[in-house]
Parts: sequence; C-alpha cells; structure tokens
Amino acid sequence: MTQTIFSLAEGIRKCTSCPLWKGRTLTVPGEGMNTSKIMLIGEAPGVEEDRQGLPFFGKSGTVLDEMINLAGISRKDTFITGAVKCHPPKNRNPSNKELKTCRELWLDKQIEVIKPKLIILLGKSALFSMIGKGKITEIHGKTISKKYFVTYHPSAAMRFPTIKQEMEQDFKILGKLLKKL
Ligand code: URA
Repeated sequence: MTQTIFSLAEGIRKCTSCPLWKGRTLTVPGEGMNTSKIMLIGEAPGVEEDRQGLPFFGKSGTVLDEMINLAGISRKDTFITGAVKCHPPKNRNPSNKELKTCRELWLDKQIEVIKPKLIILLGKSALFSMIGKGKITEIHGKTISKKYFVTYHPSAAMRFPTIKQEMEQDFKILGKLLKKL
C-alpha cells in the first residue's frame, strides 16, 4: 500500500511499539503542508501538545513561530513533527531506543512521503535521532550533508536569552538558504 501522510498519522495513533504510548493522551503525528520543502523536527510532545494532538501548541510554539517568521516564512509553509510522537512521562527526554523505534517506524516514512528539501533539526533529540552524533552548540546554524539544518529547541531559547539570540541568528541564516531552494 502506498503510504500518505494521513495513513501514517492513522498508524501513529494506534502505535504501541514503545512504552511511551502508555502515558499519552493523544499522539502528535505532525501538522502542516504535506508537500512542503521544509520539515521541522522537534523532540517530543509536551503537556499541551499531548492534550491537543498538535505539535508546538504551547509556549514553545509561540517561540517557534517567531523564529520561523524570521526566516521569511510562516508555519503553514512547513511540516512540523517530533522525533517521537508521544509525550514522555514527567517531560523526560525520549530514550535512544524510543528515538530509534519512532524514527524507523514513522519519522523516516514521513520524510519519504513529504520529500522535504531541507530538514530543520530542533535540539539534541532531533539531532541524535537523524544524525546520531554532534553537539548543538558546535554545529547550530550549519547545514549537514546539504539536507539537515541544525539549531536549538525553542524550549532552550525560552530558558536562556543568549540561546534565543543564537537561534534568531540561525533562522536568519536559514532564511537565506531557503531563497536558494
Ligand atoms: N516535538 C516537540 O519538541 N514539541 C512538540 O510539540 C512536538 C514535537
């Protein structure tokens, strides 16, 4: 069967392949344009996102929207999802095993369907999931293999003003890259 972004979302809603399903209210498969040239990958749904079933719905969503606007685009021009689709208990980081399971089962397939030209990795879980190594502080604002653009997670920008400034610079660089896509 040919997968679509909708059939993948259906599968995600029923997924019990890692322990995270036990604590979720709703899954967060992702949201946006299913033919977008730009895909953003965050970490995991937070408390608000778990209730709504939508990515970056809470305060980190407001910061992300501000950043996306700095790149000269808006959220509706992108597809946004997470490295995992279920809210981890007590907001803990997803484990390496959970990241791997969710990437192999869902994220890789979402990427195959959307075929983005550039994938923005927001923070260390997304970086670890897709690349397997690297330090955000060293490679943020840079492109890897012409396919991935690395930056911080919006929640880090909310906590640390200096990271917010660096993230703003990253999204301005991203804006220039997007003009060439
Ligand atoms: N990943 C995140 O980091 N946040 C969300 O809301 C969804 C996915």
